[in-house]
Amino acid sequence: MEEMAVRSRPELFDFHGVSMVNYFTDNWEDVQKFKARPDDILIATYPKAGTTWVSQIVDLLYFGKTLPERKDSIPIHERVPFLETSFPGLPRGTELADSMTSSPRVIKTHFPVQFVPKSFWEQNSRVIYMARNAKDNAVSYFHFDRMNFVEPEPGDWPSFLQRFKKGDVVFGSWYDHVKNWWEKKEINSNILYMFYEDLAEDTDREINRICSFLGISPSKEERDYVRGQVDFNTMKNNRMANYSTISVMDFKISPFMRKGKVGDWKNHFTVAQNEDFDEDYQKNMANTTLHFKTEI
Ligand code: A3P
Repeated sequence: MEEMAVRSRPELFDFHGVSMVNYFTDNWEDVQKFKARPDDILIATYPKAGTTWVSQIVDLLYFGKTLPERKDSIPIHERVPFLETSFPGLPRGTELADSMTSSPRVIKTHFPVQFVPKSFWEQNSRVIYMARNAKDNAVSYFHFDRMNFVEPEPGDWPSFLQRFKKGDVVFGSWYDHVKNWWEKKEINSNILYMFYEDLAEDTDREINRICSFLGISPSKEERDYVRGQVDFNTMKNNRMANYSTISVMDFKISPFMRKGKVGDWKNHFTVAQNEDFDEDYQKNMANTTLHFKTEI
C-alpha cells in the first residue's frame, strides 16, 4: 500500500481560470518545462472519462507481449505516470516520467488543452483524448470525490451536480475541457479523439482505431488478449489496474471500478435535475459540432 501524507481534503482555487487543487499545480514550473519525446503517447481526459481503461489498453498493446510480468507487478499509475501530480511522500509525475526506461512512454494528464506542456506539441507526440458524456461523467466524478481524500469534499449529489455544471470541480468545466480538446483535434492530426460510449459499445473496433492511430499492427491473438484483459470485471479484480494499492481511496465508500456502464446517470438524476441539466447543456454545447451518446 502506498502511503501519502494527506491529512485533510484540499481546497479548490482558481488557477489561470480553471478550478484546481494544489496537488496538480504545486509542480507547475517543472511540468511546463517537461521534455516530451517524439514517441511519447499522452492520454488526456477529463477526470472519470475512462482514463484507466485507455491506459491499460495502450500499455498492454505495447508491453503485454514483450514484458508480460509488467501488468501483474506494476500498478497502472506507475506504468502510466500522471504528469501533473505532486502528492506528499510520492515521486512527482514528472520524476516518474523522466525516470522511465521503457519506450514508448505512456503518460496521463487531466489538463485542459491550454495547460499541456508545449514540448508535447513541439515533438509531435501522439495524444489520445477520451471523452465521456457529461451525465455519466458527473455521476462517476461524484462517487470518486466521496471516496478519494485528495479531492475536495463533494457534499451531496444535488450540490455536486450544481458545481459540476458551473465547472467548480477539479480540472474545471467539463464543457470547456471536451470542447477545447475537440477544437485542438480539428487542427492537429496527432490527436485521436475517442468516446467512452464507443469503447463500451464495440471494444474491438476501438482497439483497432487505437492501433491504426499509433501505427502498430499486433496480431489478432494479441488484440484478443488485450481485449480480454480490459474487460470491466477483469480490470476491477486486477490489483495492478484497480487502484487498490493507493491509501487515500476508501473502497468501502465506493470502489474505483464502480459500475463501468453507459447510462448509470438515470439512477442518479431526478426528472427535474435532468430537465435543468439538459437546458444548461444545450446552451453550453450550442457552439460546437461535438456530440455525445448518453445511452447505447
Ligand atoms: P464509473 O464510476 O461510472 O464506474 P478514470 O479512469 O478516468 O478515473 O475513469 C473511471 C471510470 O471508468 C469509472 O466509471 C470506471 O468504472 C470506468 N472504467 C474503468 N475501467 C473500465 C473498463 N474496463 N470498462 C468500463 N468502464 C471502466
